[in-house]
Amino acid sequence: MDKAGFSRSVHGKFSCVACHAGIVTFPHGKKPQKVNCGICHLPGRGGAPKIPALQYRLSVHGMAVREGVAGAPRCQTCHGSHYILPPNNPMSVIYRKNIPRLCSRCHRAEYGIYKKSIHARALFDMGIEKAAVCYDCHEEHRVPNVTSPRWMLWLVGKCGSCHKRELATYKQTYHGQVTRLGYTTVAKCPDCHGSHGILPPSELWHQAFWALSLRVCLSGTQMPHGPPGL
Ligand code: HEC
Ligand code: HEC
Ligand code: HEC
Ligand code: HEC
Ligand code: HEC
Ligand code: HEC
Ligand code: HEC
Repeated sequence: MDKAGFSRSVHGKFSCVACHAGIVTFPHGKKPQKVNCGICHLPGRGGAPKIPALQYRLSVHGMAVREGVAGAPRCQTCHGSHYILPPNNPMSVIYRKNIPRLCSRCHRAEYGIYKKSIHARALFDMGIEKAAVCYDCHEEHRVPNVTSPRWMLWLVGKCGSCHKRELATYKQTYHGQVTRLGYTTVAKCPDCHGSHGILPPSELWHQAFWALSLRVCLSGTQMPHGPPGL
């Protein structure tokens, strides 16, 4: 273990047994008990933020761990053990730009599609830091089931927090007004734009599927973001 690296971490001021609570004798056995981050992060002991652990418990990840699903992430799977750095440190695994890499350790298929999207291009090629990464849409600790109607409605507002003009025009359309009432059956942002592989519409009109499905479904009604020129 690298002592210097540990002392630079967010937990550098703690003694070893603060986390390795099971160890009371010396010499201790070779394999220490699994560390339970919740001993500080659930009660919020000594200023430890507690919201992440509370949210995690209800997430698909937290529930999967409780159900014994192999490969579901615990706190230390994502954060590491001795060298945890805060999210604003570019060396941290939870630094914004490193999020797709973190999640893609397990979700390779989604990452494979995402990396070709306009969001990934904006982030990695154009240096636009605020482009959407995995946790913007899924939330790192809350991670709701993707079939949850509440999440789908929440996501409309989330897309709209970055795309304010499109949210405003969407709200004026039939789809937007019905969605605002809480119904999830009409078209919402990902139904037309997709999720991981979102591309600029200007690149999509050439693709038969997008052009056909949208032209057919929109003919006779308004454009999805209100009348042209709005
Ligand atoms: C912030 C909590 C935390 C602190 C403080 C901490 N550890 Fe750990 N340690 C972990 C975690 C997490 C693991 C990975 C295994 C696990 O998940 O329980 C681990 C694993 C270990 C292992 C097993 C081998 C390995 O690296 O995976 C050793 C040995 C160890 N720690 C020694 C120490 C020593 C010595 C100190 C004090 C200098 C220390 N730890 C402080 C959290 C901590
Ligand atoms: C002994 C109590 C304790 C344990 C056990 C503990 N933490 Fe912490 N943790 C803290 C405290 C206190 C802070 C706040 C440090 C600060 O703000 O300087 C913190 C901060 C953090 C931060 C950074 C917050 C930020 O915004 O900078 C992360 C991430 C974190 N802990 C994750 C973990 C993980 C993962 C584990 C288990 C491997 C763990 N902690 C175990 C007490 C603990
Ligand atoms: C699926 C991966 C993942 C898991 C599992 C996970 N975290 Fe996190 N955590 C993250 C990411 C990503 C961030 C950065 C969030 C941000 O920058 O807003 C983060 C941020 C944090 C922070 C800092 C929050 C802040 O506001 O500064 C703490 C503390 C933390 N996690 C603790 C935990 C604890 C405790 C657990 C287990 C109960 C846990 N995390 C499980 C990915 C994860
Ligand atoms: C260590 C592996 C691992 C990491 C890292 C990981 N996940 Fe997961 N994730 C899983 C597993 C396993 C499941 C499936 C749980 C189950 O079977 O119910 C899952 C489920 C999900 C789901 C729900 C899928 C559904 O069908 O509802 C989403 C969304 C998700 N993860 C997003 C993320 C995001 C975002 C990150 C990064 C912040 C991340 N995951 C990091 C292993 C991981
Ligand atoms: C712009 C929002 C957005 C971003 C960014 C995003 N997702 Fe998703 N994700 C969704 C939506 C919406 C769904 C629901 C199913 C669908 O439409 O594909 C979903 C579904 C999922 C699922 C469930 C299985 C599946 O494929 O349907 C997993 C796992 C997942 N995402 C992981 C990730 C990971 C990992 C990243 C980052 C590389 C990521 N997501 C980035 C919106 C997003
Ligand atoms: C019924 C399908 C549909 C829905 C629902 C929809 N869009 Fe669109 N969106 C389109 C089409 C078609 C275009 C291209 C023509 C246009 O700009 O009106 C577009 C264009 C865009 C553009 C690019 C604008 C530009 O300058 O080229 C963004 C960003 C966008 N939408 C975001 C959103 C967001 C955010 C939501 C949800 C609040 C949403 N869309 C809902 C179909 C849809
Ligand atoms: C955290 C901010 C953020 C979130 C959340 C987000 N986006 Fe984006 N989006 C961006 C940025 C930045 C770009 C690239 C710059 C640009 O063209 O506006 C972009 C580009 C786009 C484009 C192409 C725009 C164009 O000019 O052709 C579409 C379409 C789009 N996003 C749709 C969505 C949809 C749908 C969602 C939700 C499922 C979403 N975005 C969520 C930030 C975000």
